[in-house]
Amino acid sequence: MHQHITIKDQQLFIEGCNALTLAKTYKTPLYVLSETTIREKFREIRTQFLERHPNTIAAYASKAFLTTAFVKLVAQEGFYMDVVSGGELFTALNAQFPMERVIFHGNNKSKEELEMAVVNKVGRIVVDNTTELEILASIAEQHQTQMNILFRITPGVSSSTHDYIATGKKDSKFGISLDDFVIMPAIEDAIKAPFLNFLGFHFHVGSQIFDHNSHVMATQIALDLIKRVKTTYNYDITELNTGGGFGIKYTDTCTPQTIGYFTDAIVDTIDQYCEANHLVRPRICIEPGRFIVGEAGTTLYTIGAVKEIKDLKTYVAVDGGMTDNIRPALYQAKYSALLANRPLEETAGEVTLCGKCCESGDLLVEHLPLPKAVAGDVVAVFSTGAYNYSMASHYNKHVIPAVVLVSGEKAYEIVERETYADLIKHDVVPPHLK
Ligand SMILES: Cc1ncc(COP(=O)(O)O)c(C=O)c1O
Repeated sequence: MHQHITIKDQQLFIEGCNALTLAKTYKTPLYVLSETTIREKFREIRTQFLERHPNTIAAYASKAFLTTAFVKLVAQEGFYMDVVSGGELFTALNAQFPMERVIFHGNNKSKEELEMAVVNKVGRIVVDNTTELEILASIAEQHQTQMNILFRITPGVSSSTHDYIATGKKDSKFGISLDDFVIMPAIEDAIKAPFLNFLGFHFHVGSQIFDHNSHVMATQIALDLIKRVKTTYNYDITELNTGGGFGIKYTDTCTPQTIGYFTDAIVDTIDQYCEANHLVRPRICIEPGRFIVGEAGTTLYTIGAVKEIKDLKTYVAVDGGMTDNIRPALYQAKYSALLANRPLEETAGEVTLCGKCCESGDLLVEHLPLPKAVAGDVVAVFSTGAYNYSMASHYNKHVIPAVVLVSGEKAYEIVERETYADLIKHDVVPPHLK
């Protein structure tokens, strides 16, 4: 829960907006984002990283949450943006985001996606494997366009997070292996490619991390590689992108740190190493996604069925579920929640907050202390800003909810709620079935 969520007159407010009024106006489920919270996160990154350390850049990892209005907000804040698909790139392009500030990731970019990136002159492509390097070198040459590239490396570092969001381990599907026979020829090819400007390396150790050790360890590994590139090819690496992954508060058990806690450790490691080894200190980039938008989000649901199983458990079912928040089903993510219409009422015991999808695993919060809930109550689930809307699905032909951006007492619908007609708009019936 972010600090712009308050309780006034026994009702829940998100900034200056009454949660129940939002639920009534825009229907539930409803994603609500606090613009003030988001802007505070951007400011924290500016003051603790960008302004504290020279030659640094910060990119918003758009996979966490991406809409046209959000692209505008990122552009206004002056940040770079990481995209991982033609669709994310299209969203940025369509919102006139400056292409030189785009960093294009992805472990299996198609030729079409690479061509789109080259034609639109994106600022950086993070090459994930040697096949991609070959394809990109030829597309760039074909278009006679110089492209800045980095290599995503697999640093072989474990991070203390769920396996599905740990991405820096040696057996990860992401990135180029640091085995000599793989990485060294790839670097040589990149340096020699006439239309590729090889800037350096990128790693992302994982997500929802509270301890800077894995970032620092991966940084040290990348620095050793930078030194090898200098000694082997007399080539100066000018950029090191240390990814995102900075943890946020979902429940009271989370212990989030400031961004400076991570970035000071990363920057100090780089500064000291470069000075000691007479290396050019590379530009340092970070890529937070969840950190910027996660805590700012709240999802409002209306409660329907309540099923008490004597001496076992009570299910409280809401009008959404794994289709708007897949994270608990995907990797047992934990959330906290409150009744928005009776936030101060004493709890009547623990319930299992579940969705309405045809899966037993469609659970949003287990062991949730809640007052006695009845149909029509509105429940607010907190910290749903990241990887909820962006991971939403149409399973069971549920419509994807609206997204509202609140700013003080104003609420702006930035994504309209889908209609049933939207669900079938791409269906095609072949002639013999008409
Ligand atoms: C390459 C890369 N950068 C940044 C991020 C953002 O991670 P987070 O939202 O945890 O900050 C991710 C997440 O998967 C990623 O894969």
